[in-house]
Amino acid sequence: MSAESVLAFQNVTIRYPSHPIPAVHDLSLDVARGQITMLVGESGSGKSTLLRSVIGLQPQGCRMEGNIMFEGDSLLTLSPSRLRALRGEKIGMIFQDAGLYLDPRRKIGTQFAEMLRVHRKISRKQALEIASEQLSSLSLAAPDRILDSYPFELSGGMKQRTAIGMAMALHPTLLLADEPTSALDVTNGAQVARLLRDLCDRQGISILMVTHNIGLAAAIGDRIAVMRRGKLVEYGTQEQVIGSPREEYTAKLLASVPKLDR
Ligand SMILES: Nc1ncnc2c1ncn2[C@@H]1O[C@H](COP(=O)(O)OP(=O)(O)OP(=O)(O)O)[C@@H](O)[C@H]1O
Ligand SMILES: [Mg+2]
Repeated sequence: MSAESVLAFQNVTIRYPSHPIPAVHDLSLDVARGQITMLVGESGSGKSTLLRSVIGLQPQGCRMEGNIMFEGDSLLTLSPSRLRALRGEKIGMIFQDAGLYLDPRRKIGTQFAEMLRVHRKISRKQALEIASEQLSSLSLAAPDRILDSYPFELSGGMKQRTAIGMAMALHPTLLLADEPTSALDVTNGAQVARLLRDLCDRQGISILMVTHNIGLAAAIGDRIAVMRRGKLVEYGTQEQVIGSPREEYTAKLLASVPKLDR
């Protein structure tokens, strides 16, 4: 693993029990520290499977070969309790639908404070203060009103930004994001994408983000990795991949979206 990479997949193969063909096939990828790496590819190419494998979120019976290194440690040899501690603390994750990890029956503040108190020895009051500061640092207006709301009282964009705030509150080194903008309308999606770009620029967080949309990858990614049928078919800087794709498949993906200005 090179000094500049925060996460390295080394010859990773992942098989689901019900599938004869591996969902991820002998894939090696170094994720650069302090940058946004965008993972693109058609539906079913294995993007989510790869992302989830970092935090051990595969379904039971899933078989994995190869190795995943995070800051010099192999994630596959960690005990379940160390892996749980790493999740949230050093590696944050957000998903397409923020509603999935927010309990609809409890106020945002209660959930945010509870999450913080799992990892930090602080009072509920202190936790709520940190939560409020975190949300205002993400330019969410009226953070205390958000904390006092139930998830259904927030818009999709607000929920997603709140989820990013929760993921960022413990100052992780790496943020994994699986299609965090695709359930949002264009305006909210662009806002969330800008927020992630900003977190990377201001706080130096490393981001590995999955998207279907190579236009979005071009707009906010520093590096772009292209997957097809479980394999990595292209990887390079944004300029390399967008400017002169080596693979016909990448060129086809590029041709399928309207050109975005960076
Ligand atoms: N829980 C599961 N059990 C069995 N097979 C699965 C499971 N999850 C995904 N697969 C299979 O693994 C392959 C890769 O799926 P994956 O969800 O990683 O793709 P993806 O690139 O994220 O697609 P999308 O863009 O649609 O989200 C697909 O063939 C899919 O059918
Ligand atoms: Mg997916």
